[in-house]
Amino acid sequence: MRDDVLIAPSILSADFSKLGAEVEAIDKAGADFIHIDVMDGHFVPNITIGAGVVTSIRKNSNKIFDVHLMIENTDNFVEDFAKAGADIITFHIESAIHAHRTAELIKSFDKKVGVALNPSTSEKEIEYILPYIDMVVIMTVNPGFGGQKFIPLLDKIHNVKKMIDDLEFNIDIQVDGGITSKTAPLAIDAGANILVAGTAVFAGGKENYSKAIANLKSSSFKDAVVNS
Ligand code: DX5
Ligand code: ZN
Repeated sequence: MRDDVLIAPSILSADFSKLGAEVEAIDKAGADFIHIDVMDGHFVPNITIGAGVVTSIRKNSNKIFDVHLMIENTDNFVEDFAKAGADIITFHIESAIHAHRTAELIKSFDKKVGVALNPSTSEKEIEYILPYIDMVVIMTVNPGFGGQKFIPLLDKIHNVKKMIDDLEFNIDIQVDGGITSKTAPLAIDAGANILVAGTAVFAGGKENYSKAIANLKSSSFKDAVVNS
């Protein structure tokens, strides 16, 4: 089991009719972060949850609330999610007109800053924001839905890792989308240290959450498959 790799189950794949209980269940099952996918129907073609829901489920876990904003006008919503109990607030570089301003706004609420890149966005886009952030999120699916196939952007993960290491920055690399026990080792090998997993954690049912999280942590490179 690798303790240096953190697992962030995405509650997008949880049963929304009992979301509080689901958050408690993944907390007990060994989730490191609770990944919360926020979609506005504009930046991505789906609508999910708002800050009010985050406030409600905050009482169900003390784990790190990792809020992934897939929205337009990010700056208008940072305060709401900060006050709702987010620990990390991630915004998309494609949605940000003034990314540095957004990063500083998130930090003004004493929250960690994540910056996400869509699959077709070059890692070069984040070069000048790196000194101001805590986490890079490399999307390995087009954001909007759970349960999609992993896009093997392994060079991109590797390039981001190299950019961070060359600068000697302490920035986490999260990979989000299509993570299974087959694709996880590829992402880890390329440089990821935090894996988001929706379907891979929730699809097997509540009694299997801890096994699913452990399987991702102990996944081995020799069993790796790009598209399983
Ligand atoms: C996609 C979301 C992901 C998604 C991952 O827009 O950002 O966090 O829930 O789901 P799986 O693990 O099923 O690909
Ligand atoms: Zn996400």
